[in-house]
Amino acid sequence: MTTHEKKKTGGLAGIVAGDSAICLCSADDENLLYRGYSINDLASHTSFEDVAWLLLRGQLPNPTELADYKKRLRSMRDIPATLKSILELIPSTASMMDVLRTACSALGTMEPETTSTPPFAIADRLIACFPSMLFYWFHYHKSGKKLVLDSGEDTVAGQILHLLHVIPPKEEHRRALDVSLILYAEHEFNASTFTVRTIASTLSDFYSAICGGIGALRGPLHGGANEWAMALLEKFSTPAEAEKGIKQMLSDKKLIMGFGHRVYTTSDPRSAIIKKWAQKLSQTAADGFLFPIAEQIEKIMWQEKHLFPNLDFYSALTYHFSHIPTPMFTPLFIMSRITGWSAHLLEQRANNKLIRPLSNYIGPNHKAWGPQA
Ligand code: COA
Repeated sequence: MTTHEKKKTGGLAGIVAGDSAICLCSADDENLLYRGYSINDLASHTSFEDVAWLLLRGQLPNPTELADYKKRLRSMRDIPATLKSILELIPSTASMMDVLRTACSALGTMEPETTSTPPFAIADRLIACFPSMLFYWFHYHKSGKKLVLDSGEDTVAGQILHLLHVIPPKEEHRRALDVSLILYAEHEFNASTFTVRTIASTLSDFYSAICGGIGALRGPLHGGANEWAMALLEKFSTPAEAEKGIKQMLSDKKLIMGFGHRVYTTSDPRSAIIKKWAQKLSQTAADGFLFPIAEQIEKIMWQEKHLFPNLDFYSALTYHFSHIPTPMFTPLFIMSRITGWSAHLLEQRANNKLIRPLSNYIGPNHKAWGPQA
């Protein structure tokens, strides 16, 4: 060890970077709790709006609070005319993640955070209007249509599907998306949440922190994995073909997107929940044959590498069977994770300490100054 060397760990693996009362993501019993409630109970008994309230406000809403919250979110769906003009100017070829990052940043110039902004105001605003931003841009560039941004649906899941397809969603698709939004809402100090907390720790504003989170989520090792998982599934027509293809990819040392996790070691507790939805929707989907292909990939990955599907793998199929285009998968992750990000941002602010780790210097020692040859 040189005099400069300090103890380090690749990718901060295994490092405890702070206290949090929002989420327990436990490798010991492969368990996930939001504010003390198990993910299984939340996915079975609550809606995404319950979970958004729980994460932000610390307890589940009572029926009156829930009804009022849904009304409040519904009342915040429209976006400023200037933001609509900006969305019209963003190229039709843009990544949808870039559309949301840009729109979030632009909204921050129109409705900036001030010292009198109530704590949950921007979180609620973004929960309500991320779908509006994406689908306004999407329909404008697809058909020139300037979408009316309140679909009449009273849930975020219903609003997303209704704005996308411009017709009321089937109840099973709406509930599948609602469950998926619950599962994606929070996951302690993952890369994007830690980014949000790092930005918040400098006492920067809400929008800057969320834009940073979107940037971190975009990568294929994090949120982007659900889109890559879908692309992988679509390569195969039969389970036998998938088995051969996956074995080849593994022998070529390729990553199989939607598998593995930094914290969990034998299973992702969210995967079994969303897998049931993928299976259910496959029964009526035109390309339901993709479900046995996915199961075969799951089997081979366990057999060959002891790797298990993470939330992204069967979420991809669930979205696909709900007729959601693949480039929207990671943007949907934003529409859910905005809740967890916001809860962490507020928690960071409540007990702030600038996040500023050290680096282990491996560059040259002090060089003598002189003219360059
Ligand atoms: N496909 C193939 N091999 C994988 C793999 C995957 N999805 N995930 C991990 N591995 C392998 C690595 O290649 C490595 O093998 P090696 O020891 O022979 O080099 C070993 O398993 C350990 O992986 P490592 O990348 O060190 O683990 P990590 O904790 O840093 O990575 C992820 C965690 C999630 C980044 C990683 O599993 C991954 O890249 N998964 C695919 C992307 C994904 O689904 N992301 C969403 C996460 S929720």
